[in-house]
Amino acid sequence: MVSSLSRRELLSVAAASFAVGPASAFAADALAAAAARVGVAYGSAAVYPFLARDAGYRRALLRECAMLVCENANKMDAVLPRPDLVTYEGADATLALAAAGGMRMRGHTLVWHEAIPDWVRPRIAGPGAESFLRQWIRSAAGRYRGRFEAWDVVNEIVAPEEGRADGLRRSPWLAALGPRYIDLAFAILDEVDPSAAGVWNENDCEQAAPWMDARRSLVLQTLEGLKRRGVPIRRFGMQAHLYSTFPLDQEKLRAFLREIAGMGLAIEITELDVDDRAFPADIAARDRGVADLGRRFLDVVLDEPAVLNVVTWNLTDRGTWLNASPIRRRPDGLPQRALPLDDAFRPKPLREAMKRAFEGAPDHSKARAALRKT
Ligand code: G3I
Repeated sequence: MVSSLSRRELLSVAAASFAVGPASAFAADALAAAAARVGVAYGSAAVYPFLARDAGYRRALLRECAMLVCENANKMDAVLPRPDLVTYEGADATLALAAAGGMRMRGHTLVWHEAIPDWVRPRIAGPGAESFLRQWIRSAAGRYRGRFEAWDVVNEIVAPEEGRADGLRRSPWLAALGPRYIDLAFAILDEVDPSAAGVWNENDCEQAAPWMDARRSLVLQTLEGLKRRGVPIRRFGMQAHLYSTFPLDQEKLRAFLREIAGMGLAIEITELDVDDRAFPADIAARDRGVADLGRRFLDVVLDEPAVLNVVTWNLTDRGTWLNASPIRRRPDGLPQRALPLDDAFRPKPLREAMKRAFEGAPDHSKARAALRKT
């Protein structure tokens, strides 16, 4: 499925498809329509096995979204589960659904310290690391050349608590290639698919906690280095797995987004969900808390014109990763209510809060057009 378009043709394809579809392209009350009215694309992570077997889930994604990303199907452990097997089944099916619904796709993720199959680890521990990386990106991103708007080229690369002077996470990629693995990964994607914006996707930069302050300043410092070296990074991805257990300092968040935009980078909210572990078991109280935090976050984010896309880490509470996470699940074990729709695809207060945040936002279309050229 690799397209034979030249670099030039790819870039013009990207420019054309880059604009958010007209709000009229979506059901009038859809989240995607509210977002498109201010030049923002709303989308969701899609869970492949669920998407394959549940028509209600497919319908909900088609109804609400203008963009999809594979929650897991584009990751190395899903694509290369065994040395003798390369499978794009999940990603191809997700792209097919996106194409059927006139939705765009973003790719997640090319280089990460997780989701590395056991059989790959020895292959990237020695001198063959760079050629393996090239082969992987050529396969994973090359397959969708001209069809993915953006790729999370590197994911979760800073860990100041690990004590390195540069604050980088001690990942297998860093061990094998040194800090240059980051520049290299962006350069390879730019060769393989110049129409896909290269994104650095990062977690835990959103809220008011001393350890998040440290992460934010490290991110800014690292971004400045990437820009100084001319690395073809085009966007910063803020995951936004919001904690109900931490406060949100809107002014700190605003300043951080502004600094990133000031470097000429676009910004995406890539994995938004709102945990409800600090709220009581009562469903109405939890839903109110989740909606309030989601709204306060989005009010700041959508004030920043450089923010192009808002993607939630699934559309429905069913199967949210939060319930399986030892640090994010609720102490009382109740299933969390972190997403816009409940597990029966019924809208929740968070969906209403998101819709209002989109409706109250300034128009992003001009910034979007300008950032398309970067
Ligand atoms: O597909 C296999 C299945 O064949 C096997 O039987 C089963 C039991 O071992 O595992 C299945 O794979 C699991 C996969 O989710 C699909 O369900 C993996 O073990 C499991 O680790 C994986 O968890 C995902 C996690 O990333 C690690 O890749 C979560 O669903 C996903 O929500 C989470 O998403 C991450 C983002 O990629 C990066 N940002 C943080 C976010 C939350 O952790």
